[in-house]
Amino acid sequence: MDYQDVLAALGAGSAHPGGFRTTLEWLEHVPIQSSTRILEVGCGTGRTSVYVQQKYDCPVIGVDVRREMVAKARRRAKQVGAKVKFVQASAERLPFPDASFDLVYMESVNVFVDQIEQALAEYHRVLIPGGRLLDVEMMIMGPVAPAWRESAKRVYGALRVPDLASWRRMFQESGFSNVRALWSRPVRPEDALAAEPMDENGTLVDPGAYQKPEVIRVLTENAQWMETNHRWLAYVVLVGEKPKRNLETSG
Ligand SMILES: C[S@@+](CC[C@H](N)C(=O)[O-])C[C@H]1O[C@@H](n2cnc3c(N)ncnc32)[C@H](O)[C@@H]1O
Repeated sequence: MDYQDVLAALGAGSAHPGGFRTTLEWLEHVPIQSSTRILEVGCGTGRTSVYVQQKYDCPVIGVDVRREMVAKARRRAKQVGAKVKFVQASAERLPFPDASFDLVYMESVNVFVDQIEQALAEYHRVLIPGGRLLDVEMMIMGPVAPAWRESAKRVYGALRVPDLASWRRMFQESGFSNVRALWSRPVRPEDALAAEPMDENGTLVDPGAYQKPEVIRVLTENAQWMETNHRWLAYVVLVGEKPKRNLETSG
């Protein structure tokens, strides 16, 4: 089992740095109305999608590459009567027409996607001109040794942990404008997986999951790694916009 298998088995609701508190905070910075069409990429078990759909009564689609995540997200939505559509799909190949959404967001997903440039191109494609991208991600605070990156990959499956300048550059190179950090904060050891209740209602966790040796191993390894390494990590809430007009052809 790897980190993401464990998140799925435990029915993790807010498996991103800062947890659900961060979600509530960034929502204060983004104008959302009942007509705002929203896509969440890498929605996991759908906690944020369900919350957003119910709070704003707006159309929300959540996609995740993992079948178990999508199944649990659908179960969550059914439990509370949320009208979210959950689709199994990858960030690199979103099954939606161009310009379908006003807001595309993700929380702790882009460190994991296989092809980041392709994923960013897809977010850009499915947004309307003037639409907004928002992303909560881990970032590195300074230079680290290749061995550090290897350990982040082994323990978390994180294929990349860029610094703030690199995140911004990637977004800009994918065509987003006005790319900025709403805020960034240090990651605390309490942000480790094992320290948070994974499934806030206890209805999405696989029976007996917490007793499984493999789950215990991953949780323990994760907590130990975070205890040692959190001082190199921060998380950032990045936003950018798809420009209203293509600057190369305007004028
Ligand atoms: C750390 S979890 C975060 C889940 C959710 N955003 C949350 O905050 O609870 C990362 C999620 O990204 C999904 N994911 C990873 N790579 C993906 C990809 N290429 N396309 C879509 N989802 C992906 C995983 O299946 C997992 O559900």
